Amino acid sequence: MAASNFFLLAAFIVLVATQAMASDPSPLQDYLFRYDLCMFLNTVRVNGFPCKDAKDVIVDDFFLAANLDKPMDTTKSKAGSNVTLINVMKLASLNTLGISMARIDYAPKGQNPPHTHPRATEILTVLEGSLYVCFVTSNQANGENKLFTKTLKKGDGSVFPQGHIHFQFNPSYDKPAVAIAALSSQNPGAITIANTVFGSHPPISGDVLAKAFQVDKKTVDWLQAQFWENNHN
Ligand SMILES: *[C@@H]1O[C@H](CO)[C@@H](O)[C@H](O)[C@H]1NC(C)=O
Repeated sequence: MAASNFFLLAAFIVLVATQAMASDPSPLQDYLFRYDLCMFLNTVRVNGFPCKDAKDVIVDDFFLAANLDKPMDTTKSKAGSNVTLINVMKLASLNTLGISMARIDYAPKGQNPPHTHPRATEILTVLEGSLYVCFVTSNQANGENKLFTKTLKKGDGSVFPQGHIHFQFNPSYDKPAVAIAALSSQNPGAITIANTVFGSHPPISGDVLAKAFQVDKKTVDWLQAQFWENNHN
């Protein structure tokens, strides 16, 4: 086969293979602390979490008395929400497994403000009340950012694709809402947009933000003077 033909064939195979091989990342061990991997790497920790010999693994390594059935306090949060996240920091056996979960409590008219998870897609279901949910696409070729919204009632679910700005809002004047979310990372991370942009320490240049948001500098000064709290536990 001529070299150029071989190159074309190889390029074709790579193209087909990359399209056919999209998949979830697969752990190389069953679970927990990757002891074999630790041995291989000659370390006692993976991703900062301790390794454990398979024979020492006990059922409680997988267990957490998470109290996710308990309503959390939403009165202290300005946004009117309280996120309880069970990630690898709270349950070390999630290490390398690519999953975590959260309970989110919403006060009447409360919201989990616009944010993104840099490392996870989220799927959420409503346990109590109803939620107006939304995400926005990244910048499209035509310059648009498309908004997707839906009002979920109890038992409904919705997906927020990885990295996309999204929020949930409880439209009720008098009833709280509760959601359970699953996230496709042991450590999804959260970037709350307003906190990041207006609440950074030290603050971002007011001139930069005034231009970026097409508002006057006074508006930016006012926003930067607010207290931007974290609604996550
Ligand atoms: C969430 O609720 C818990 C328990 O009710 C409370 O201790 C915590 O301070 C609350 N967090 C926020 C961010 O309001």
